[in-house]
Amino acid sequence: PLIDLIFNAGETEVELAKQLGIERTIIVPGNADLQDRVYQELGEALSSALDLLLPLGHSIVTILGGDVIAKSARFLSKSLGNNRQLEFVPGRGALGENVATQSNTIVQEMAEKTGGTYKTLYLPEQVSEVAYRSLIREDTIADLLQDISQSDAVIHGIGLAQEMAKRRGYGSVELSNLREKKAVTECFGCFFDSNGKIVDRITQVGLQFENLKKIPHIFALSCGAKKAEAIKAYMLNAPRQTWLITDEGASSMILKGK
Ligand code: G3H
Repeated sequence: PLIDLIFNAGETEVELAKQLGIERTIIVPGNADLQDRVYQELGEALSSALDLLLPLGHSIVTILGGDVIAKSARFLSKSLGNNRQLEFVPGRGALGENVATQSNTIVQEMAEKTGGTYKTLYLPEQVSEVAYRSLIREDTIADLLQDISQSDAVIHGIGLAQEMAKRRGYGSVELSNLREKKAVTECFGCFFDSNGKIVDRITQVGLQFENLKKIPHIFALSCGAKKAEAIKAYMLNAPRQTWLITDEGASSMILKGK
């Protein structure tokens, strides 16, 4: 069973965690680029990991959103809510993508699955500096940001830079600027190059990358061979307490390219 797998990480999982400089990896079978069933295993692995790490009682779990988390969310186990009052909070506003992959939608689904509660952040993800400074002083938003900063866990995806920029409605000039800067991945509104350097950044209301390191448990869900480079680049900056939940498709590419 999966829980044994988590207690006793396999040799490849240990090797991958070591290479990426993080606490733990969980590798599920398959390659998400070709097999949709990977998301079920990913969701179940996330559920077991949360069950293992989250304290009993009240916990705040911040969700960043994206395709992978959206597809895995429904596989959270109902029993995760046993003896826990889980509060799911969106870690960012809405970006120009499918409503199903928005953090606002996923928090609701996770809360329903586990008998928990959720909050929403109905704002565009990307705002101007001026709007940012005034929005964070709004009571409901300040309250949500407070919850985010007190999260017990954060669950996030690791995006491909160009794809994430397109989802945010970047035009062709901005896309080629980003390509020039050699951005390969995006997480928390930061675009990173393959050396892990932040080369571009969005002003966004929500969880700021700098504050991530204070969160006790971090789960990065990212899978498929095409994500290997993005995962590697992001992990150069990931806080050590990060658990990467991935598939063989991504992990074998990362380990091969060592
Ligand atoms: O910001 C990162 C993205 O949310 C990653 O999402 O799972 O759709 O690639 P993804």
